[in-house]
Amino acid sequence: MPVTEPDDLRARLDAARSVCVLTGSGISAESGLPTFRGVGGLWRTHRVEELASPRGFARDPRLVWTWYGERRRAHMSVQPSPAHVALAEIERRVPDFTLATQNVDSLHILAGSRNVLELHGKMREAKCTRCDARRPFDDAFDLDALEHDCGGMWRPDIVWFGESLPPAVLEAAFDAARRAELMLVVGTSGIVQPAASLATKRCTRAYVVEINPEETALTPHADRSIRARASDVLPQLAR
Ligand code: APR
Repeated sequence: MPVTEPDDLRARLDAARSVCVLTGSGISAESGLPTFRGVGGLWRTHRVEELASPRGFARDPRLVWTWYGERRRAHMSVQPSPAHVALAEIERRVPDFTLATQNVDSLHILAGSRNVLELHGKMREAKCTRCDARRPFDDAFDLDALEHDCGGMWRPDIVWFGESLPPAVLEAAFDAARRAELMLVVGTSGIVQPAASLATKRCTRAYVVEINPEETALTPHADRSIRARASDVLPQLAR
């Protein structure tokens, strides 16, 4: 059901010289990927501390890689949603556009978005626990060869609970939020920090618009909260 999007949002978008977008797993739900905390969400069906923590990895790296292997195959089996595509189109119209995503599925990049900050890492790469070397996490990745030459271990390039975000990526996201005249918050429950702070204390001058079928922790901070799915709103804004 199309959402009658007031033209003022389109007018704000057309007038904005600087736009920042924060996305979460809700935007990929429409591509067929599970969210984390929704019905059937990953953290409802799996134990975070076992699969997404340094301690879990140290305890059983093979289990962790097997789980990420399943997720990677799921990511490879889906396409960007109309909402991912719409954001790539909107980017082309805005002089200063930054897309900060919590998603590790690369669907924004696949949709054609260029200025993408991957706050929580990326599934398509592995990194060494000791020397930080990188390599692709692809079909050639061998679960029986997890040791790196330097003596470290290959681990998913994902930010796990209790870990810091990549400093340069986080700083660039804070800068983009500070510059933004319009902040779009799409498909996130807004409970994980510091990502959620982009839509609260970091975007001091922006008009904040949330797009989510449900109320979230960020709703009270939004100037406007649209109860709708991402693909019911963003393609209209991109048109
Ligand atoms: N369009 C827009 N929003 C949607 C849609 C949709 N079609 N479907 C679901 N949502 C919303 C849900 O209402 C919910 O608010 O997406 C949100 C998903 O929230 P979470 O499952 O908490 O996922 P997310 O916010 O991405 O989690 C943040 O937590 O587990 C960590 O590192 C992980 O990046 C992740 C972070």
